[in-house]
Amino acid sequence: MFNFITFILFAVVCISYCHKSRGRRHFGDEYRINTPACDIVCEGQWKSEFHANFHKIYDTEYFEIPLDTAIVKNRANLKMFCSSTIQKYSCLRNECKIQRTPWSAEKHICVGHFDNFDRNINCLSLTDKYVQRECSNVCNSIKIEISQAEIDRMAEMDFSRQEKSEFVEQNKHCNVIACYQLCHEYIISKVCIDSAVAARSVVKSYYDSYLEREYTELNKDDQDELYSSFCRRVTPGQDENEFTANMTRYNNLTLDRMKNDIRSVFSILD
Ligand SMILES: *[C@@H]1O[C@H](CO)[C@@H](O)[C@H](O)[C@H]1NC(C)=O
Ligand SMILES: *[C@@H]1O[C@H](CO)[C@@H](O)[C@H](O)[C@H]1NC(C)=O
Repeated sequence: MFNFITFILFAVVCISYCHKSRGRRHFGDEYRINTPACDIVCEGQWKSEFHANFHKIYDTEYFEIPLDTAIVKNRANLKMFCSSTIQKYSCLRNECKIQRTPWSAEKHICVGHFDNFDRNINCLSLTDKYVQRECSNVCNSIKIEISQAEIDRMAEMDFSRQEKSEFVEQNKHCNVIACYQLCHEYIISKVCIDSAVAARSVVKSYYDSYLEREYTELNKDDQDELYSSFCRRVTPGQDENEFTANMTRYNNLTLDRMKNDIRSVFSILD
């Protein structure tokens, strides 16, 4: 059991980090400076359990993209992570009276899709080392570009320097996420023969929801014009030609290049 002091300690650490997740920008976060709010305490407790269970620091050593080794390593780890996550959500509900919570990676895995993750844990565990090594190599070095049509459009729309840089960053982020998704699905097809279809769909639904959240965060701040055509192409329910026409071919080429890069990294396995 964790004592109260530990909770408070983590809650204080959490005030500066809780709403941050690595690799993403943030829009309109509010930080509370005084006594930790109720939800911050639930969150801090969850993070301190993560630390105790996995011997790493959630804020700096846990990654949502790709799926973290700590949780897909084996069934015991997945269960440990999820039982603590379920506790966090009951803490939010029962202690803080928060009924509606936004999408989070851990909620997706442990609340929405636990059975699917659990059923496919062998395949996820088997593919993890390739995802961490080969997929990371290829996805961290893909060529990421913005089409001339969108550069022209940003000029026409008089995007500020900051808007341009947010557009570029978001586009990069979508490219890396899409690359990990394609790469993970590719390696599942190679390695998990019998369970490949089911495991691919678990991975796909995780990445799809992650991208939907990316879009929702921009949209809620009325900044959805900062979401590039490529981002729209890979996000379910979005239209790649919404703001800039005729982008399908450009995005096809981007995705084809990505798939080729992935294939060539794994050609050694064939
Ligand atoms: C899109 O492509 C079609 C056919 O290539 C062309 O006729 C049309 O003018 C293009 N639209 C824009 C807005 O560039
Ligand atoms: C883009 O790719 C899809 C298949 O993935 C294809 O059906 C479509 O014709 C392609 N479009 C263009 C404009 O290249």
